[in-house]
Amino acid sequence: MGADSLFVGQRIMRLDQVDSTNSFAMGILKGMPVEEGVVITTAKQTRGRGQRGNTWESEPGKNITCSIILKPTFLDPSLQFDLTRVASLALSDVIADLLPERDIRIKWPNDIYVDGKKIAGILIENVLISNRINYAVVGIGLNVNQTEFSASGTGATSLKLLGQVEFDLNNLLRMICAAVEVRYLQLRAGKTEQLRAEYFNRLFMANIVTRYTDFTKVFDAKILEVTKEGFLVLELTDGSLRRFAMKEVGWVGVTQ
Ligand code: BTN
Repeated sequence: MGADSLFVGQRIMRLDQVDSTNSFAMGILKGMPVEEGVVITTAKQTRGRGQRGNTWESEPGKNITCSIILKPTFLDPSLQFDLTRVASLALSDVIADLLPERDIRIKWPNDIYVDGKKIAGILIENVLISNRINYAVVGIGLNVNQTEFSASGTGATSLKLLGQVEFDLNNLLRMICAAVEVRYLQLRAGKTEQLRAEYFNRLFMANIVTRYTDFTKVFDAKILEVTKEGFLVLELTDGSLRRFAMKEVGWVGVTQ
């Protein structure tokens, strides 16, 4: 493994089972220094974690559940959303390679959607030391060969459901490592504006008026911008602008 990348995935820790690859990675980072690019992957998570304190369900042995350890010490913590862009673009690059006919989108902040259904999620956790990002743990859950999803997973899809074939998990992990490395090196080389523009161009529902909620009321709006810090700026149908952090807004659906 590792022919396609210089450092991401050169060392892979494969675990039969673990509570969460992100929790495991955060645990080892507390105890010892770890080289950049180490990947932790498992066939089964017993307490897979998602965004906003949700759980991440994944049928054992069928999907990618992994965490990539990076050391973005060059990145100002106020711009850590650029890492979200790196991971979302990398994952959508891989999926677009495998499913070239499909519409691959990033749903702000970092869900990957294919033809309107969620195929992957990302959970990034940072270890900050004196206002510096010492480590970032990039957790990736990609639905691969799973074809049935629980009631709570309605609206989910997988590579197999879309591509009608079984995918090789080792090969996929190699592709993900290579793609993350490419996008991460883009960030490290200072090509931030390019990354931000590409992220914006791949956004789900960009330039389309859809229904959102701020959890007190619903309103129709379209995405105007994602700020460099990662806030979502919506333009409401009355022309006013509103800015939201991650947990402050939900997507309700397409306006009838
Ligand atoms: C989301 O969409 O809510 C984010 C899901 C992230 C899931 C991955 S699976 C590997 C890694 N370990 C975890 O516990 N979570 C992430």
